[in-house]
Amino acid sequence: MSTLAGRTVLVTGAGGGIGAGIAAACAEAGASLILADLEGDLAAEVAAGLPAAARARAFTLDVRSLASWHALRAAIGEVPDVLCNNAGVSNGFKPLLAVPPEEFERLMAVNVTGVYHGIATFAPGMVARGSGHIVNTASVNALSPFGSFAAYSASKFAVLGLSDALREELAPAGVGVSTLFPGLTRSRMAERDAARAVANDPAHMQRVRANMMDPLWVGRAVVRAIAEGAPYIVTHPEYRAALEARHAAILAAFGEPAEPGYRSGASATRPAD
Ligand SMILES: NC(=O)c1ccc[n+]([C@@H]2O[C@H](COP(=O)([O-])OP(=O)(O)OC[C@H]3O[C@@H](n4cnc5c(N)ncnc54)[C@H](O)[C@@H]3O)[C@@H](O)[C@H]2O)c1
Repeated sequence: MSTLAGRTVLVTGAGGGIGAGIAAACAEAGASLILADLEGDLAAEVAAGLPAAARARAFTLDVRSLASWHALRAAIGEVPDVLCNNAGVSNGFKPLLAVPPEEFERLMAVNVTGVYHGIATFAPGMVARGSGHIVNTASVNALSPFGSFAAYSASKFAVLGLSDALREELAPAGVGVSTLFPGLTRSRMAERDAARAVANDPAHMQRVRANMMDPLWVGRAVVRAIAEGAPYIVTHPEYRAALEARHAAILAAFGEPAEPGYRSGASATRPAD
């Protein structure tokens, strides 16, 4: 999609943080905005702060509920040109063994099923139209996970896997798919997680806060990626070394087949050579 001017962009989790940054950047680029959030009043506040030219409309949406998505589709009465599946939650830094099952399920319901619901609601219309772009917000934790964030990383790996496969599936219909991998970015979630982790060290909290990227710049990177049809949006290059080390370790595990004499044969999903 060469330009966002005159296009309609739907952003979930648009009530602040990265979603609000994406909305503001898309407005800068000339798009009309549909802002959706579990907290509809926060989405309305963000909409009110955008320039009038963005004709921003705000809606309450629970991404976990397909019925809520259908109600949104009926309310807006159109298939947006761009869908940004950005709503997400974290459960703070804690070891996986300290994560109760209901907390794990909530993470998956919002971060994974919520993305699937958005795609199930609007991608068929994009395919029928023969154009559109989907941006799914993952995290650097989808590239190089670390201890104390296992459940969140699992949900964001799922977003990456889903997005990579979906890109292949929708490309013939002219619909693009990008995955966003933000690192630490200013938002309510980032504040909350950091405050819990360094509650009794105000100086440390100040340093963490100073490291938070302005979400508007994350949004501008999203706008560029949509224009270029880029598959991946990396905003925080400092994670490159960790990703290289992880990939090197995985590649190092490739050797001889486990079964002596095994040769890779026909695949059920790829045409024969
Ligand atoms: N801020 C960071 O450092 C960071 C880093 C990597 C990835 N992310 C991801 O970026 C996305 C945005 O997060 P953020 O940091 O801006 O946090 P945020 O808490 O400011 O924004 C998330 C928004 O999602 C909304 N939301 C939560 N559950 C919802 C639901 N069920 N249905 C609809 N909306 C719901 C919240 O009300 C909130 O407004 C998330 O997917 C998050 O995982 C954030």
